[in-house]
Amino acid sequence: MKPLLYFILAAGLTAYTAGGEKDFISSNAGFARQQLKHMLKDTESRDSLAFPRTINKEGKMITTSMYDWTPGFFPGSLWYAYEQTKDPVLQQEAVKWTEKLEPLKDFTQHHDLGFMMYCSYGNAYRLTGNKAYRDILIQGARSLSTRFNPVTKSIKSWNAFKTWHGQQLYYYPVIIDNLMNLELLFFAAKETGDTSFRHIAVSHAETAMYNQVRPDYSSYHVVCYDTTNGKVLARETAQGYADNSTWSRGQAWGIYGFTMIYRETHDPRFLKTATGMADWFLDNKNLPEDKVPYWDFNVQEKGYTPGVRSNANKVKTKYRDVSAAAIVASALFELSGYAGKEKGTQYRQAAITILHSLAGSAYRAPEEKNGNFILMHSVGSIPHNAEIDVPLVYADYYFLEALQRYKASLD
Ligand code: GLY
Repeated sequence: MKPLLYFILAAGLTAYTAGGEKDFISSNAGFARQQLKHMLKDTESRDSLAFPRTINKEGKMITTSMYDWTPGFFPGSLWYAYEQTKDPVLQQEAVKWTEKLEPLKDFTQHHDLGFMMYCSYGNAYRLTGNKAYRDILIQGARSLSTRFNPVTKSIKSWNAFKTWHGQQLYYYPVIIDNLMNLELLFFAAKETGDTSFRHIAVSHAETAMYNQVRPDYSSYHVVCYDTTNGKVLARETAQGYADNSTWSRGQAWGIYGFTMIYRETHDPRFLKTATGMADWFLDNKNLPEDKVPYWDFNVQEKGYTPGVRSNANKVKTKYRDVSAAAIVASALFELSGYAGKEKGTQYRQAAITILHSLAGSAYRAPEEKNGNFILMHSVGSIPHNAEIDVPLVYADYYFLEALQRYKASLD
């Protein structure tokens, strides 16, 4: 249905009209186009295989190699900005930055291939139909599948994880973020007809649903498995405040991940998990009014203690994490289409509120500031003392994706 004029009571009594919201989306897309072009200019004087990630204390861009987990987000942002503005320069650059990542199709050293390839090549294939991109994605899915173990019924995230409590190392850690990588496997299953990709994705999703999501639908960040019998050895955190806390971006990955898994499977257990996790997030007493969460829902709360080695012990400021908000906004636009009328409306309104918060002056950077990233105030990892209150390339990516999903819902 295409309402000509409708009102959304999203933030308090704010009323938004469809026409006004289209202007809101296009002005944000226009701003993104400008920032991305400034960023492209900055990249010209750097190593051609350096991928934008964040900024340093002087406000200058920090980059990573393609083998970190985030190289797909810059090309992905270029694709979304191109999709919204139809600017041919953005398209050329999106192609160029995507194609740099071709070597990743054979990469097997960690689980993040879904992020790395589906945000870049996935969008490239969706928008161009270029069959070469499809083949690269399928090879990437084969590489990701090598990390699946039928005993743990999970894809191994990292090759090792060291607890914050001491020196203990675990060799089969699975993090909630890993749900996001399954989209690449579902894609490969559909494209090739090879059901093993789908089997791996569904097995991993079921295992995460049982072991990573708590009965109240909050989430553990890291679950470590025994490869001899598939039993859980430990439930801990890497980037959250405490083992029993809920790391905001982890919860965001869960909401997004289980929504996508429901789209691909139509299995009502996954929808229940997605809505349970979304309700936990949105109804939480610790979620600020603008719906941009603190970096962890339980920072400095009674009953939550960081491990002795964690830098979270030293950080007293309760930083927000804009990246978590952007991921949740994008997820909620999709989930609103699956959750029935009443909940669907509630999720959509929450997504719109988040987008308006992020596009306001508290979070959206002025042009040519913030290392030319779009959004300010994200958190990479406080326990590791890394990327605290900075822009992050993936916050921008999910903001642009959420804008695109909002736009598509109004067209
Ligand atoms: N996947 C890593 C993170 O969310 O920081």
